[in-house]
Amino acid sequence: MGPETLSHVLRQLPIPQDARLLVGPHTGDDAAVYLLDEETALIVTVDFFTPVVDDPYTFGQIAAANALSDVYAMGGRPLLCLNLVGFPTCLPVEVLGEILRGGSDKVAEAGAILAGGHTLEDDEPKYGLAAVGLVHPEGLWRNSTARPGDVLILTKPLGTGVINTAAKVDMAPPDAMAAAVDLMRTLNAAACHALRDVRVNACTDVTGFGLLGHAAEMAEASGVTLVLRAEAIPVLEGARELGAMGMFPGGAYRNRDWVKGRLAAGGVDDTDLLILCDPQTSGGLLAAVPGDQVELALARLGERGVPGRVIGEAVPRRDALLAILA
Ligand code: CO
Ligand code: CO
Repeated sequence: MGPETLSHVLRQLPIPQDARLLVGPHTGDDAAVYLLDEETALIVTVDFFTPVVDDPYTFGQIAAANALSDVYAMGGRPLLCLNLVGFPTCLPVEVLGEILRGGSDKVAEAGAILAGGHTLEDDEPKYGLAAVGLVHPEGLWRNSTARPGDVLILTKPLGTGVINTAAKVDMAPPDAMAAAVDLMRTLNAAACHALRDVRVNACTDVTGFGLLGHAAEMAEASGVTLVLRAEAIPVLEGARELGAMGMFPGGAYRNRDWVKGRLAAGGVDDTDLLILCDPQTSGGLLAAVPGDQVELALARLGERGVPGRVIGEAVPRRDALLAILA
């Protein structure tokens, strides 16, 4: 669902008031966080969607990596997961078995426990997880605490949305699709572990609202403006070309329309803007770290094989939440 529609509906719900709720619904953060005691906070999140690839095992892996990502985006360690499944009676049950095997393998890779779940009959397959994680309250990464001077690091390239959409009509080059699949099923665990070695002021993950959508949420919640350098933002090979051919998913246009009034973007063409708004499945972490932590952060990410890139910085709030430099 687009950010505009969603925030309109969510505004009508009561805002929970409890001092133990460290992160609630009002900052558009990745997960809810509940303080258990001085040293422990509980992270709770849920995510599920329809298949983005044909192979059921791979879909299971991707959906699980995507759901677990919100735990990592809070700086946490996944503990316990439950499957959420929708499945049509017209498909062979072996397909469901493969989806669940993919999810189970990914949860095991994350060092968490898959402890059950819920299944219902549905017109098309849907899969994902409810996940619970733990974090020390002082090590909690909100999306609402970026400060002027922070440097922005992105840990995965963009472009999975446009490549997936092209693949549905057999237009994605096999190499581009293989790279996208690899990226989508990669846990954000290594990125999270690497960044836990440095001071992180704020963090989120890049998913359905695209880089600019999630960056705008971080800027708004933090009271800063985020300045991004278009040139520095990593993009999967082939994604721009497919975008120029009009292969963007509907969500990219919805995200762009939402972000447009919050953005100063001189000299960035429409295709590049749509890439920055491309909805990502299981995208990377977007972290705001103090300037003196950047070198260490990039080194730690590199040691763990994570392609972290500096893509911009946070500055005191201007008129627009986001600025893109061409
Ligand atoms: Co998230
Ligand atoms: Co989420």
